[in-house]
Amino acid sequence: MLKVLSVFIPLSLACLTPHAEAYPARGSDQDTFILNPYPEKPRLTFRSDGTFKITIFSDQHFGENPWDWWGPEQDANSTRLMKRVLPDEQPDYVVLNGDLITGENTFKENATTLIDQIVAPLNEFKIPFSSTQGNHDNQANITHLAEILREQSVAPLSYTRISPPGVGGDAEQGPGNYWVPVYAANSSPTPSLILWFFDSRGGFSAGANSTPVQDWVHDSVATWIEREVEMMDRVWGPSEQNRAALAFVHIPPHVVQTLQVNLNSTKDPGLNEDELGQGSTQATTNPSSLGKDEAFWNALTVHVKNLKALISGHDHGNEWCSREPSKDVVFCFDKHGGYGGYGEPEWGYGVRNILFTSPELDSTVETWIRLEEGEQRARVVLGPDYP
Ligand SMILES: *[C@@H]1O[C@H](CO)[C@@H](O)[C@H](O)[C@H]1NC(C)=O
Ligand SMILES: *[C@@H]1O[C@H](CO)[C@@H](O)[C@H](O)[C@H]1NC(C)=O
Ligand SMILES: *[C@@H]1O[C@H](CO)[C@@H](O)[C@H](O)[C@H]1NC(C)=O
Ligand SMILES: *[C@@H]1O[C@H](CO)[C@@H](O)[C@H](O)[C@H]1NC(C)=O
Repeated sequence: MLKVLSVFIPLSLACLTPHAEAYPARGSDQDTFILNPYPEKPRLTFRSDGTFKITIFSDQHFGENPWDWWGPEQDANSTRLMKRVLPDEQPDYVVLNGDLITGENTFKENATTLIDQIVAPLNEFKIPFSSTQGNHDNQANITHLAEILREQSVAPLSYTRISPPGVGGDAEQGPGNYWVPVYAANSSPTPSLILWFFDSRGGFSAGANSTPVQDWVHDSVATWIEREVEMMDRVWGPSEQNRAALAFVHIPPHVVQTLQVNLNSTKDPGLNEDELGQGSTQATTNPSSLGKDEAFWNALTVHVKNLKALISGHDHGNEWCSREPSKDVVFCFDKHGGYGGYGEPEWGYGVRNILFTSPELDSTVETWIRLEEGEQRARVVLGPDYP
């Protein structure tokens, strides 16, 4: 009887989780999965000239006050921004780095249809992309999981995935932990670059008795990172010699707060208008949570080799990059990419671009801010001698 139970309980649980099938747990299946987590999608590759360009739209905050004239106008403006920037920049990949929607203002019956509006330009220009979710994407009438499932169903080139069961904390509020492989060429046997995406949760739980959700990447993600890197190394060879990495998370890790104090506007250009305090970085909304994001930060910086940068949004007034000295990892803020959410008109609206100039491990990586109207600023080159 016990034996029967031990077989049937995990199976029935597996059937209830939508992603269990796509993420087999056994050794050899896992290797097959690692080799190609996107069997139905085009393989992402560097261009024939060796470059790979990523454009990041962050904090778009669609869906504010749909009952006022200005809410829908903001959304139309945010769509206009995407439709101006995409044909100009012609990115190889787009990242939507959290707070896609201002969930406080959404209705239960139609909240996720905002996702259709957000991804429409990406569908139109046929650009592969994926998303992280932010604190405003977890609210009474919306969850990270609901947004991801909608995105997957309406955007054929969405590479957003859901972490395996038990990874990320609550399955509705923290499921956006995954990675995306990028190959030097279609014929390359192994990827040259891994894009990592993490779910910093936050916001409020769904339903009538909505309560605050922890605002840091869940501890379980730390062990997951270590496990994933181990498998990649086993199947693809050691990452140190074979692969670069780039990481995205909506809320910056808490350690970023210490970087602001020593910022030098010549070496670390870009808007610096948001003083980081309570709620600006992970695990700070509630003072008793301080330090809770360290498991994630340590796992990321120890296990993910050749990490070119970690990139976050959340603080709309900041655009700078800086190197975190204790882990020797570059951190960059996004650019506020939507007309919703807090901000000042003079901050402008735009994107962060990231350009890999080659698939080699020591590739130069350039990054800069581009405003809707075309102005470019705060360009830095993320090499070993940066800043
Ligand atoms: C929409 O964009 C126009 C042009 O930039 C601007 O004048 C207007 O204030 C924006 N509307 C809102 C609601 O942000
Ligand atoms: C959630 O959606 C319901 C149904 O549309 C609406 O009545 C309610 O006000 C919304 N709740 C919040 C907190 O916005
Ligand atoms: C959802 O429904 C509300 C209430 O009918 C409406 O004001 C709002 O514009 C709708 N939102 C979307 C995204 O369809
Ligand atoms: C800022 O960086 C510039 C360029 O490296 C340097 O010349 C300047 O002394 C620095 N300023 C401070 C206050 O450290």
